[in-house]
Amino acid sequence: MSTIETKGTVGTAERRPAPTLVCVDCGSTEQDLSGRCLACRGLVDAAYPGRSAALQPGDSDALETYWDLLPIGSRASCRIAIEPTPTILLTELDGVPIWAKVEGVLPTGSTKDRLIAVSLPLMIERGIERFVFSSTGNTAAAYAWGLQRYPELSARVYVSEDVPASQLGDPTPRMEIVRVQGDYVEAGNRSRSELQPGEAPEGGFFNLGRREGAKLAYLEAFDDVARAGGRVDTVVQAVASGLGIVAAARASEQSAAVRSWGRGPRLFCAQQTSCSPMVKAYRAALNGSNDRVTETMPAGLAAAILLGDPFSSFDYVARAARESDGGFVDVTSSEIAAALQRHRHEVPLGDSAAVALASVYRMWEQGDLRGSEGVLVALTGGPGR
Ligand SMILES: Cc1ncc(COP(=O)(O)O)c(C=O)c1O
Ligand SMILES: [Zn+2]
Repeated sequence: MSTIETKGTVGTAERRPAPTLVCVDCGSTEQDLSGRCLACRGLVDAAYPGRSAALQPGDSDALETYWDLLPIGSRASCRIAIEPTPTILLTELDGVPIWAKVEGVLPTGSTKDRLIAVSLPLMIERGIERFVFSSTGNTAAAYAWGLQRYPELSARVYVSEDVPASQLGDPTPRMEIVRVQGDYVEAGNRSRSELQPGEAPEGGFFNLGRREGAKLAYLEAFDDVARAGGRVDTVVQAVASGLGIVAAARASEQSAAVRSWGRGPRLFCAQQTSCSPMVKAYRAALNGSNDRVTETMPAGLAAAILLGDPFSSFDYVARAARESDGGFVDVTSSEIAAALQRHRHEVPLGDSAAVALASVYRMWEQGDLRGSEGVLVALTGGPGR
């Protein structure tokens, strides 16, 4: 294992060559501003030849710690520091350690702060001035907060009328909010169809900066567990588009800690039974069917992950789960409530995070954790997130 010490090697004003951006589907290196391949509309990822980095005690900014694994050209573009969040040993189930990555402590209460801390500098470097996106609330709150540090940027976000205004963070003139009659899918459609000249589509799942920002939570968690003498062979996260799980797969490939463990963890995607289109499509695929049923009236406790049509990203997410030997799990409202009841006094725990945590209990009951050396559950948001 070679770990390159990255700190201090890049001066703040110094630019470095950007990593090559390659379509994972066709290998093309041509992409649009939203991050989709121009040749096939596929997903574009950054290639970092042989680079590695690890969290050290006292590190105070994930972007600096993992700088060599980020696609940003200059440190000077990065104005939001992401302090390490706690990785705690939450409980043990039949001797299997359950590690939790506690993202609810971030400034807007969810892991989305990491995503925008990486996507905003990339937008600046690409010359974007105004971007357009859709959100179930948490990404909007994170961008509203992050834009304060990027006065040269502004945004418009499409949000379902069902999302309470309190979910969207502090109002700012720099982010126009358009309320949409309908669900998150409809918000996404409007955000694409109402794009004006001079505006860039933010890209959502396809936004490289978002995925690379989400990756940081996993790089950090893997390093934390390794430092505590543990090992993670199973990861569970709540999914809407599945961006977090695809980011976990990238972190697993690139993590120095995972390399020392020999094998990457199994990646599991968690949904609530009342809105679980990915779980159903994955089960169908296991039975040899290509059935993809969208949820036209998505409902459930965990509002942030209510995405009824996740099929523009599903294949990438399913691949990450399958190639890691992981899978998909769904949990009922009472299982989610039980997980909240059990752990909400110990950690900041929102409903979507509780979906992931409830799934850990479900997997344990089903025997899916038998023989596991350690589970990492991403608690992606705190109360109200
Ligand atoms: C708290 C929280 N957890 C999990 C997710 C799942 O997101 P994705 O699957 O798109 O990464 C979201 C998305 O909004 C979220 O806000
Ligand atoms: Zn392509």
